[in-house]
Amino acid sequence: MINIYKKEDLAPMKSSCELARNVLKYIESYVEVGVTTEELNSLCHDFITKHRAIPATLNYKGYPKSICTSVNDVVCHGIPGKYKLRNGDILNIDVTVNLDGWFGDTSRTYIVGKTSKLAENLVEITKKALEVGIKAVKPYGCFEDIGRAIQHYVESNGFSVVRDFCGHGIGRELHEDPQILHYGDESPYATTTQILPGMFFTIEPMVNAGSHKIKILRDGWTAVTVDGSLSAQFEHTIAVTEDEVLVLTIVD
Ligand code: MF3
Ligand code: CO
Ligand code: CO
Repeated sequence: MINIYKKEDLAPMKSSCELARNVLKYIESYVEVGVTTEELNSLCHDFITKHRAIPATLNYKGYPKSICTSVNDVVCHGIPGKYKLRNGDILNIDVTVNLDGWFGDTSRTYIVGKTSKLAENLVEITKKALEVGIKAVKPYGCFEDIGRAIQHYVESNGFSVVRDFCGHGIGRELHEDPQILHYGDESPYATTTQILPGMFFTIEPMVNAGSHKIKILRDGWTAVTVDGSLSAQFEHTIAVTEDEVLVLTIVD
């Protein structure tokens, strides 16, 4: 069941999403050679709690940390730890906050120091893939158009879209219906799900430089590319009104 939120629910969602986005802005200057992902975790944790919110991933289904930190071939859900960032790494930080019972979810991939042309290109194409997905969102349109647009854009640039993770409805809970696929070629039925005013959801494509295939490490969380290729991700939380598509985790 997809929740349809009320007009008055938009204001608290905006606040939560603004905080999540502010965490990504705040942490940017700390993403440097030599810093550990655990240090980044604790800086984000303190920033979130100082703004009277709760880091929503902490203890979520047993996840042990306040953010996800996914380096190089890690696709998503990397667990912060002792790893020290090195020159040329790409690092996704995924921040999910719960502010007054409303969830905001956003992530971006940072480049550490100077990286390869391939990594630079991957990060750029992934960022644009999210933009392409957002452009496919229309009030009274359908969710399937998002994945189709993203897959077409990513594959025509020589990269692949991860299929094992998807975007999701969000609001009073972190993960709500529907699941929002970032690809469009494998739909078993020709079903469509309509995008209606009052829906809140994320789009969060993960793009690999090589094969789209992933595996989960023995910690039960860390998803990595099977072929060891680089992976990047960007995520925004979106709200749809009668006549607008609002990207809540971009605030200017
Ligand atoms: N922020 C992630 C998402 O985009 C959720 C991470 S859940 C965790 O859906 F437990 F892995 F942290
Ligand atoms: Co999400
Ligand atoms: Co997220």
